[in-house]
Amino acid sequence: MRTVEHTRQGDATQVLTLTEKPRPPAPGAAEVLVRMLVRPVHPGDLIGVEGMPGQPEQRPDARSQARTPGVEGMGVVESVGADVHALHPGQRVAVFPAPGTWSDFVVVAADLTVPVPDEVSDETAALMLVNPLTLRMLYRAVEDALGRQPGLVLQTAAGSSIGRLISAEAARRGLQLINLVRSTSGAEKLRAQNPSQPVIATSDDDWREQVRRYAGERGGVQVVLDSVGGAMTQGLAALLDAGGTLISYGHLGDGTASLEALPLIARALTLRGETILRWMRRTPEERAQDVAFAQDLARSAPDLLDVAARYDLADFKAAIEHVRRPGRTGTVLLTSPRPVDSAQGAAR
Ligand SMILES: NC(=O)c1ccc[n+]([C@@H]2O[C@H](COP(=O)([O-])OP(=O)(O)OC[C@H]3O[C@@H](n4cnc5c(N)ncnc54)[C@H](OP(=O)(O)O)[C@@H]3O)[C@@H](O)[C@H]2O)c1
Repeated sequence: MRTVEHTRQGDATQVLTLTEKPRPPAPGAAEVLVRMLVRPVHPGDLIGVEGMPGQPEQRPDARSQARTPGVEGMGVVESVGADVHALHPGQRVAVFPAPGTWSDFVVVAADLTVPVPDEVSDETAALMLVNPLTLRMLYRAVEDALGRQPGLVLQTAAGSSIGRLISAEAARRGLQLINLVRSTSGAEKLRAQNPSQPVIATSDDDWREQVRRYAGERGGVQVVLDSVGGAMTQGLAALLDAGGTLISYGHLGDGTASLEALPLIARALTLRGETILRWMRRTPEERAQDVAFAQDLARSAPDLLDVAARYDLADFKAAIEHVRRPGRTGTVLLTSPRPVDSAQGAAR
């Protein structure tokens, strides 16, 4: 089977290689072997390969000395372990968290697979879990921060895949949201998609004034949902009303910013990090509700899980370069061919 892997951190187009490896061994009793067909290239996948500035290098897998990126995707069950009765070969499943999905096959615990509803396409299914589950985690964090009071939320990178999910959920639930994007062209695109919400471009010299003016008429910004970080962090914290919360969940930006203790103390601000990597710590009931939400979203609003481009797994470098292009809408996918002799899990 083909697998993409790296043995050290660095520029993803430099350190990742395509390797031919034996298929994984038969799945354990509670596991399934999945023939992967489609998986996304998320910004977080690239952070896993490139590392975070100022953080120690992640160690590759101790046994193989190599690590394969990817935590979600969809495929077809190839074989099941002895104790797995709810899944059968040929069934379409989405998987998360399943480390190493940038491979033709992956072994996953059966309870981390999610059956793909019939009406959901393979591509939508490949995007069904990480971002919708992140949306649920972020929404809970916003609700905690607002404490049942109405309030105004400011989000950065609003044109991102997750940003557009947040906008749609805010519109559905009547949450007041200000959308920040980095360019005027991005702002125009987003306004056309969602005319009911304000969109401000941070390329405007007076973008902070625009936020203050809008927020001032509505009681100030209570929550910032930020996936840009870096040099923007300080300015975003300064836009928060006293008692507000900065929820940080991404690092798309460059640079660093210091957050001084005294202004934080004086204005009683809260800083909170959120990561999908802690989703498994939620209760089983919450996780089941989140997965049901994700399946429903994939059925009812597939346009919110849209695709920018698809590349064969072997063309992962071109796919990564596509991910880095400014102005892209949607997620870039890596695909594996469906075997011609298999009628299992027909493509949708
Ligand atoms: N914490 C978690 O568990 C979690 C889970 C999912 C996603 N995330 C994070 O959420 C963020 C968005 O992910 P995604 O998959 O939705 O992304 P995506 O669809 O790939 O979109 C990336 C977006 O970021 C914008 N962008 C890129 N660099 C920027 C910068 N320096 N300043 C401002 N905007 C910038 C792009 O805007 P242009 O249109 O201007 O190019 C684009 O809209 C990422 O930081 C990702 O790591 C975190």
